[in-house]
Amino acid sequence: MAWPGRRNESTGPVLLDCRTIRNRVRELGAQITRDYQGKTPHLVAVLKGASIFHADLVRAIELPLSYDFIAVGSYGTEGTSSGEVRILKDLEDGLEGKDVLLVEDIVDTGLTLHSLVQNLKERNPLSLKIVALLNKPAGRKIDVPVDYTGFDIPDAFVVGYGLDYDQRYRNLPDIHLLRFGK
Ligand code: IMP
Repeated sequence: MAWPGRRNESTGPVLLDCRTIRNRVRELGAQITRDYQGKTPHLVAVLKGASIFHADLVRAIELPLSYDFIAVGSYGTEGTSSGEVRILKDLEDGLEGKDVLLVEDIVDTGLTLHSLVQNLKERNPLSLKIVALLNKPAGRKIDVPVDYTGFDIPDAFVVGYGLDYDQRYRNLPDIHLLRFGK
């Protein structure tokens, strides 16, 4: 959905506290560990939002693994997804023959992820799965198969644990609802 442009905002109530997040990330790590037995997954984190989730997730996976980072921007106007992503920072390594696990912070319309998945598939990974910390099912405009989801959340704007509004709030340990206006 479209979010208001820059204006007075403040953090609202905590939606997910850091303990709840930590426990769920451990569960996701355990599940990925089971599912990728005998493999060496290559985790691709989408900057900047997924950086903190990624750092915790890799430490919850008890397997040999590698990782890389990609940064994408949307061509849409502020706060909206156009569905077309441009690569702001590309991966260092190729994906050929790798079991790639794409690590996203949040899936809303699904447009960013859909476009990114098309891009990564062209690089011939052996497999490509998606793990997203947060999912907003109500915002979905295009179907994207998210293989591992941390939490389904309501259609509200959230910040913290890597997620920003106008580049701020990423350092909050909990995930908060953001309040707009007075
Ligand atoms: P989508 O293309 O609509 O699925 O948008 C996904 C991207 O929008 C995420 O990777 C975030 O960068 C951003 N985004 C969507 N919802 C939120 C939110 O509630 N808080 C912070 N960023 C969000």
